[in-house]
Amino acid sequence: MKITIAIDGYSSCGKSTLAKQLAATLGYSYVDTGAMYRAVTLYFIRNQVDIFHPEQIEQALQHINIAFKINELTSAQETFLNDECIEQEIRVNPRVAGTVSDVSAISEVRRFLVKQQQQMGKNKGIVMDGRDIGTVVFPDAEVKIFVTADPTVRAQRRLEELTDKGQQTTFEEVLANLEKRDYIDSHRQDSPLKKAEDATVLDNSHLSKDEQFNWAMHLIEQKLSSAGM
Ligand code: DC
Repeated sequence: MKITIAIDGYSSCGKSTLAKQLAATLGYSYVDTGAMYRAVTLYFIRNQVDIFHPEQIEQALQHINIAFKINELTSAQETFLNDECIEQEIRVNPRVAGTVSDVSAISEVRRFLVKQQQQMGKNKGIVMDGRDIGTVVFPDAEVKIFVTADPTVRAQRRLEELTDKGQQTTFEEVLANLEKRDYIDSHRQDSPLKKAEDATVLDNSHLSKDEQFNWAMHLIEQKLSSAGM
């Protein structure tokens, strides 16, 4: 009996690390919905789509095909935009990080992606992370986790990730981008980031990856046994 696991929360707080670990352990599929918003953003940047022009947006969306594929060499899941691997670019391109919150506030974009996400999860057995998974995409998910952490801890983690990928940036820049995204994500009109009423909060400011994984597995086991599954 497979279930749906929804993981939402602020930017750079380790949602995808946790989601990937859970999916691998449970033999579930994993969907990084942030990567889908980043892919649309990259397409809009490359094709100079005016985000204040609804017709241009509708038109552009018709030409966007997003897929996830496993890299056979690294076993890592990668994001593809119209058959091109864009995994690296959507993570390090500062223009993507700078505009993705504005693009993801557009209702047409959300409708387009939410429909695909619901389709991907229709047979359950999925761990999906994002901002609106427990509230909008899968309001009936059996397990909902809302992840948060101190902004300075998150900025430090993100800085290390970017530095490892060869990006030159500063702690202040990373923190400012993160706080700006959090603000836009939680104040937009359509599907703002908020904790679903039945979600459990995970503050991982002082937890290691193993500790947060064990916490989540415990929660999942509890939910499954209380549902008699
Ligand atoms: O998780 P991330 O940082 O890769 O997400 C990038 C942006 O996409 C983030 O600023 C908010 C948006 N997003 C969203 O609005 N809804 C989702 N389900 C996932 C991401």
